Amino acid sequence: MKKSKISVIGLGFVGLTLAVINAKEGFDTIGIDSDKGKLKNLRRGKTDFYEPNLSKYLKESMKGDKISFTEDFNNVLKTDITFITVGTPSTKDGRIDLTSLKKVISELYNVLKNKSTNHLIVIKSTVVPTTTSQIVLPKLKNLKNVSVVVNPEFLREGNALKDLVKPHLIVIGCDNNKDCKALERYYKQFYKTMPEILKTDNSTAEMIKYANNAFLATKISFINSIANVCQKLPLVDVNTIAYAIGKDSRIGSQFLQAGPGFGGSCLPKDLSALIKFTDKFHDLNSFFKAVENVNQLQLIQIIKMLKSMKVLDSKKVIAVLGLAFKKNTDDLREAVSIKLVKNLLKKGIQVKVHDPMALDNFKNFFNKKISYCKKIEDCLKGANCCVILTEWDDYKKLKTNVFRNNMKELNIIDTRRILDPTKFNEFNFKAIGLGPGKDC
Ligand code: UDX
Repeated sequence: MKKSKISVIGLGFVGLTLAVINAKEGFDTIGIDSDKGKLKNLRRGKTDFYEPNLSKYLKESMKGDKISFTEDFNNVLKTDITFITVGTPSTKDGRIDLTSLKKVISELYNVLKNKSTNHLIVIKSTVVPTTTSQIVLPKLKNLKNVSVVVNPEFLREGNALKDLVKPHLIVIGCDNNKDCKALERYYKQFYKTMPEILKTDNSTAEMIKYANNAFLATKISFINSIANVCQKLPLVDVNTIAYAIGKDSRIGSQFLQAGPGFGGSCLPKDLSALIKFTDKFHDLNSFFKAVENVNQLQLIQIIKMLKSMKVLDSKKVIAVLGLAFKKNTDDLREAVSIKLVKNLLKKGIQVKVHDPMALDNFKNFFNKKISYCKKIEDCLKGANCCVILTEWDDYKKLKTNVFRNNMKELNIIDTRRILDPTKFNEFNFKAIGLGPGKDC
């Protein structure tokens, strides 16, 4: 079967990974973005964020002439399918901002009115229910050969390429089965073994994405709430609780890792968009608000631990290990590290930070106000306390001696539960969800 030609509009995290994986799978792919600097870098094979294997696959696809980058929307005419992956960021009050999406739709209208063959537009950007039927479709209704479908994306940062190749489900929302079938035909070209496909109307497909992310957020806020209770109870450890309840297949073991709260580009943004969207249905969003509230309060738990260690005064030095919102990414969006460091600086505390990937990005937030360390040892040197905020594998391997040989005082807060507490008996060691020892 002849492979469809693909255009992807919006080369952020989802768009670029999608474009690269299509090119890698042999589809002629054109990436479109308005950011000239980004395009210049991409043409040189450079990505503006870290994702495992992405640069490698990008360079391979460029060598094979399978991918190109442009800002010119007319290139859409050379393709059969256009994926829209522009950002729908939060406005100040937490709603989604549809400015980029609306702009892309009018550009597409201008270009596609000249196309005589069929064209499929796939909305991958996360949009609240009814966006496609009430905002997108009316703008395109005069275009006879153009179909529009909603196809939410569930990939995770740090695992994006694998998630694209092996999704748990493909959701396709459409107004009529013919449009759904058009996208299904593309997926048949993409996958050797077809994943399950669920066809719905547009608004249901849009709602599935919000329900999915809100549920993941709920699991995390739930386990963090249990963790905060465990912390008060001698010898009780949330990890044991999470293991036990995770064995119940009705609950499942994933997303039960207690920690400093969820961050990233999706969970906080989508939860807050869902809250704003459901505001109009009075009293239907108290549950979502509670999930968000628990997440925002997780930082306070860390501050309370620091306070109990008596390290919150201006003469103290605090070392923060891990800045990215999770491991295997350099992304700092909604990362707890930013909120914590801001809080510490307000108290006049000296802050040193380390992260294997996100150190340079962190400089954009704090410039010369803190010390940036390339080595873990340098970060720990002279510190009165170390707070582990990201679960990087490098930190999991740390031996007690690295802390002992470098720190001024042996205070450790493990917010990710990556160190074995039994090895840190002689330290003042505290962890999210870990109750005090017998004597406390
Ligand atoms: C998420 C969704 O998982 C993905 O399906 C969607 O497409 C985009 O949003 P992502 O933001 O990449 O993906 O990260 P994810 O792995 O979901 O983690 C989100 C946050 O939750 C991170 O801060 C992570 O550290 C935290 N988390 C995750 C926990 O605190 N505990 C857990 O058990 C799992």
